[in-house]
Amino acid sequence: MNAVEIEEAVSELAGQPFDREEFPFLFLEAYGNKETTIKRLREGNSNKSTIEGGVLQQKNIHIATCAVGKVADTLQLLQDAPETVRAKAKFILATDGKEFQAEDLNSGETIACEYQDFHEHFTFFFELAGISSVKEIRESTFDIKATSRLNRFYIELLRTNPDWAASKRREDMNHFMARLIFCFFAEDTNIFNGDDLFTGTVQQMSSPDASDTHEIIEELFRAMDTKLQDREAKGIRNWANRFPYVNGQLFSDSIECPKFTKIARSYLLHVGKLDWQQINPDIFGSMIQAVADDDERGSLGMHYTSVPNILKVLNPLFLDDLRNQLEEAGNNSRKLLNLRKRIARIRVFDPACGSGNFLVIAYKQLREIENEINIWRGEAERPTEIPLTNFRGIEIKGFSAEVARLALIIAEYQCDVLYLGQQLALAEFLPLDTENWITKGNALRINWLSVCPPTGTGVKLAGDDLFSRPLGQAEIDFDNEGGETYICGNPPYRGSSWQTKMQKDDIKLLADGKLKSWKNLDYVAGWLLKGADYLSKVDASFAFVATKTICEGEQVPVLWPYIFKLGYQITFAHSPFNWSNLASNKAGVTVVIVGVGRPTSERRLYDDGQCRLVDQIGPYLAPGSTEVIRKSMVPVSGQGRMLRGNMPSDGGNLILSRDEAFGAVEQDARLNKFIRPYMGASEVVNSRPRYCVWIEKNHLDLANSIDFLRERIEAVRQSRLSSKAPTTRNTKVPPYRFMQIEGTSEQYAIAIPAITSVNRDYLPVALLEEQIILSNKCYALYDAPIWNLAIVASKIHQVWIGTVCARMRADYSYSNTLGWNTFPLPKLTTKNKEDLTRCAEEILIARERHFPATIADLYDPEKMPADLKRAHERNDEVLERIYIGRRFKNDTERLEKLFELYTEMTSKENAG
Ligand SMILES: C[S@@+](CC[C@H](N)C(=O)[O-])C[C@H]1O[C@@H](n2cnc3c(N)ncnc32)[C@H](O)[C@@H]1O
Repeated sequence: MNAVEIEEAVSELAGQPFDREEFPFLFLEAYGNKETTIKRLREGNSNKSTIEGGVLQQKNIHIATCAVGKVADTLQLLQDAPETVRAKAKFILATDGKEFQAEDLNSGETIACEYQDFHEHFTFFFELAGISSVKEIRESTFDIKATSRLNRFYIELLRTNPDWAASKRREDMNHFMARLIFCFFAEDTNIFNGDDLFTGTVQQMSSPDASDTHEIIEELFRAMDTKLQDREAKGIRNWANRFPYVNGQLFSDSIECPKFTKIARSYLLHVGKLDWQQINPDIFGSMIQAVADDDERGSLGMHYTSVPNILKVLNPLFLDDLRNQLEEAGNNSRKLLNLRKRIARIRVFDPACGSGNFLVIAYKQLREIENEINIWRGEAERPTEIPLTNFRGIEIKGFSAEVARLALIIAEYQCDVLYLGQQLALAEFLPLDTENWITKGNALRINWLSVCPPTGTGVKLAGDDLFSRPLGQAEIDFDNEGGETYICGNPPYRGSSWQTKMQKDDIKLLADGKLKSWKNLDYVAGWLLKGADYLSKVDASFAFVATKTICEGEQVPVLWPYIFKLGYQITFAHSPFNWSNLASNKAGVTVVIVGVGRPTSERRLYDDGQCRLVDQIGPYLAPGSTEVIRKSMVPVSGQGRMLRGNMPSDGGNLILSRDEAFGAVEQDARLNKFIRPYMGASEVVNSRPRYCVWIEKNHLDLANSIDFLRERIEAVRQSRLSSKAPTTRNTKVPPYRFMQIEGTSEQYAIAIPAITSVNRDYLPVALLEEQIILSNKCYALYDAPIWNLAIVASKIHQVWIGTVCARMRADYSYSNTLGWNTFPLPKLTTKNKEDLTRCAEEILIARERHFPATIADLYDPEKMPADLKRAHERNDEVLERIYIGRRFKNDTERLEKLFELYTEMTSKENAG
């Protein structure tokens, strides 16, 4: 369940009559517990509570209902109950249907309210549904409620006005919603004269059967688009005359409204009754934009960029510097004045702005700094010099662009109230004089310089020469000359295989002819390419949230050399981190933040909240070297030749389970010759081979004389013929063979699974007997000296693979060409090789001692046996001493050394 669904369920529960016995179960249901879980609790199987009326859910909550007046005592009982601690409950909750009390046992926070109001605290229990307990999310109660109500209202309107749901009228619907949101906000913040003016007028003037609701609202919109002096001439009705002139083009164009049903009318009144003063424009905007988006509606903006994440971009990009300057200026009036002037000319540009949350936060932060300057200068009530039009955006979706604009207007008003007081804020607010400075369109096709030119006050919005100019865009001039420009945002990700034709074309347009292998790039890379091109014309810098894949594996040599060649560097970066937002399913994406600009003296690398100053930040976001690792077909440091395993492309017909293999041999002993153990990644890790049919050419006649094999060969032939892949369909490889045979061993193979869990302390690697056939889910060193196994099993190799190879989600995705062949080894002496061979043998012997434990068992980080750990430590010790004469202090030092060696080796190679 997402946050909005929980809000709806909890509000519904609070509206029902209290049922003492049922309440705990209904409460848990409202937070997304499944029927089966509730059933088990009801039956007492998993309910560990010893308190009367108590329900205890392991690791979650201990709830008890009680007789009237006993709430405080019951909460104490829950607190003292030993089972509360034993079951690691996060919350306790007591209620008698009149009073409601609860405590978060981790933070010690409590709530106490009347029963009918407990739904107001629905975010307090978000952890029950696996939703982050980040403070700002818990404080978004209003934004979630408002989104939920608007969502219901929107769906009802579309249901009864299907023509408004069609793409032709979607823009009108978006306008209509944006106008309503503005009115709700304005009536609760004194922008409109009189409390509840909009909702109250609709309620009073429209008939309860809703037949004329749309007409009443149209008249109000018409009034707000008409100057006071023109109203009489235009025949504005008396009751609409109390509304101010708003302008700002918010109410221009068609004011037609969709028709209302009784339900829609009551939803509208319901939404209007919320206290819109509490709106948080960054969060609300992100949530509400999903309402108008058929694909996103299900998640209702739960994936928006949270404020702490936005600040991870904006602080290092420019806010930290401004704050440092503020501190340096102290009470020096001249310096403060200069800083104020500087701030007023800063342009912030988000070319994938969604509902404008980055722009809103940037605006609010700049206003905060400006206000401090004003206080220090004794000018506390000075109107702001920061124009909203300095905050530019491009957004492809119409409603999001509308909301972005609205969010900025609201943010401006809230800042005015905060810093200047309500009276001045109101005096400044209407009529809105700003126009549409958020551009609707495809950011990868629009010339950024035309939306956000660095200097001058004029703007001429035009498409790139190749494309027609986007329709209906206002050309909005800047209020003041430009100073610095900062580009920021969280552009869409989309891996190359998920891109639409249009998106592929966007990237093609930017990269074709400039970059090789651009087809592998994520969509987000388009923003980095555009950003770099913008920087080549303007003294600016950019920082984007991006999928971490642009900083690993194959995308690095495609993207980053282009950016570095233009003379830019990574000025700051955040190492990969998990997305945190309102989504209850937090598996989500892993992202990085990269800041790019002209070379600076200081580069900052953020990792898990820690910031380090480093000499350079490379494209893998490792410090020390900007080296790009390119695929190599041969090992660069004399290590063994590593091949991919063998690919059957057989429709499963050459592969056998253990039972099938043994059964077949039992039936016909001749098959012994043709059936071999077969291992891929999971078989290696779990020491459980499957089997495969393996026929050498010189035994083909015999094979063909065995029915079992002949049938299978024929099945392979049919399967290849019907394959969708042309290479398989047209292959010349005979069907008795695997389609791609890279190699087999004479004596033994060192096998490395292609994808392996990131949770192990070492990469899994196994030594296998000669007759085992390895699948393409593995890499293999056939008959290579055993010291190669010591290298694969080392910490330093794991760090290299984790850095330069791609990842499958978080897991390692091994590559021979990118990870093994490129791995920089110092020149190994015979003695070094002997030492490493011994280390490898010790690892194998240690594993052997725990037979039949598998690699999966032995390398479980919680359970790794001490002797195996020691063998690995010893291996790391020996190998790392070969590099630097001692153990490395940490992974950073390991990477620094590896990049240094790599640079040395490749520059020698290039010179050669
Ligand atoms: C990951 S969202 C970020 C939006 C916002 N900053 C947030 O956190 O909610 C990416 C935004 O880019 C917009 N977008 C996608 N493709 C675009 C394009 N080609 N040009 C402009 N905007 C685009 C999407 O509609 C979406 O609003």
